[in-house]
Amino acid sequence: MSNGATVGIHDLSFATTEFVLPHTALAEYNGTPVGKYHTGIGQRSMSVPAADEDIVTLGAAAAAPIVARHGTDGIRTLVFATESSIDQAKAAGVYVHSLLGLPSATRVVELKQACYGATAALQFALGLIHRDPSQKVLVVASDVSKYELDSPGEATQGAAAVAMLVTADPALVRIEDPSGLFTADVMDFWRPNYRDAALVDGQESIGAYLQAVQGTWKDYSEQGGRPLEDFGAFCYHQPFTKMAYKAHRHLLNSAGHDTDEAAVERALGRTTGYNAVIGNSYTASVYLGLAALLDDAEDLDGQAVGFLSYGSGSVAEFFAGTVVPGYREHLRTEAHRAAVERRQPIGHDRYRELHEWGFPTDGGDHPTPAGTTGPFRLAGIAGHKRIYEKR
Ligand code: HMG
Repeated sequence: MSNGATVGIHDLSFATTEFVLPHTALAEYNGTPVGKYHTGIGQRSMSVPAADEDIVTLGAAAAAPIVARHGTDGIRTLVFATESSIDQAKAAGVYVHSLLGLPSATRVVELKQACYGATAALQFALGLIHRDPSQKVLVVASDVSKYELDSPGEATQGAAAVAMLVTADPALVRIEDPSGLFTADVMDFWRPNYRDAALVDGQESIGAYLQAVQGTWKDYSEQGGRPLEDFGAFCYHQPFTKMAYKAHRHLLNSAGHDTDEAAVERALGRTTGYNAVIGNSYTASVYLGLAALLDDAEDLDGQAVGFLSYGSGSVAEFFAGTVVPGYREHLRTEAHRAAVERRQPIGHDRYRELHEWGFPTDGGDHPTPAGTTGPFRLAGIAGHKRIYEKR
């Protein structure tokens, strides 16, 4: 199924926030049986950014270890995928480029299509490397997921960034052709420019996601993709981890396979570890699924992994990757687990304060309250300009 060239993910690193809200605290506050969160949607806790964290600080924190390990040689493109953009004109990746000290001879751009953006970024990166295999592309997927307080979507919030170095002859995952593609104009989830929190029709969004799964698989098969039996695991976009199970059962049913629960668990269980405790990280979510899978103890040398990337609105893509033999030597399992475990639990009052926090829009000088202990912070805003610093 490969076109002969070996291009793909050479390194992967993620970062998440300073704070975490356990779903037990949310359940206690709003009187929901916690089983609805733990079992019903498959979520244990959600990452909550400090006031001085945003998509830039998270993105830079995710990418910094990649630059520390590989240097900047050959990185001529940085693609920043997000749907929680902080500026209508300037790409958030330009701030990341500066914080990481990347060479000026770099192209930087921001991509958006809801949670699908990072997969578009990955595909663009693969195209650039096919054109010139000496080049490397830094893909950064960074999002803060925010719904209205006391809304059904609230329990599915989260925040994280995944950075991937995409190269020829990759050490982690070779990405294959073909892709299965699907686009449909639906209003399942959207965020008009004047709003901070997303609007969503929850049940419609689940239906739209399932329709997209079926559509991408149909196209993938028609393009000559692998049969379902080839795959050792499937990384789905996980707005909440139970969504991956709904999606996979739907895929199996629509492809005429039975949904043996033990087989479904084998295909998905290892991909949900980070998403269940971080929450929806939008563009980063499907690649957090990959991080969890690779960081799991089982050896995946040579196995095929299916990826299903879904972005509301909607655009979706199904594609395959092969795990490169020897990948385990290149993982960041300890750092990833530390990123999750270092978060400070907060109570419901503090979470609500942070949810409501925002800069005045008067163009004045507004330093940000100190919060993060991460490597980068948003120090404030002055004259409508965001000021970032290394800690
Ligand atoms: P809801 O209406 O509060 O929950 O919202 P529900 O009543 O549908 O219950 C959820 C599940 O919990 C159900 O299981 C219940 O049975 C179960 P299901 O029938 O689905 O298998 N349940 C319990 N289980 C155990 N013990 C209990 C209990 N009570 C109930 N006591 C909804 C759920 C997901 C709709 C809401 O959280 C929401 O609106 N979320 C945001 C939208 C979303 O995540 N959509 C997913 C697909 S769209 C997508 O993935 C794109 C997105 O990431 C955005 C982008 O692309 O940018 C969102």
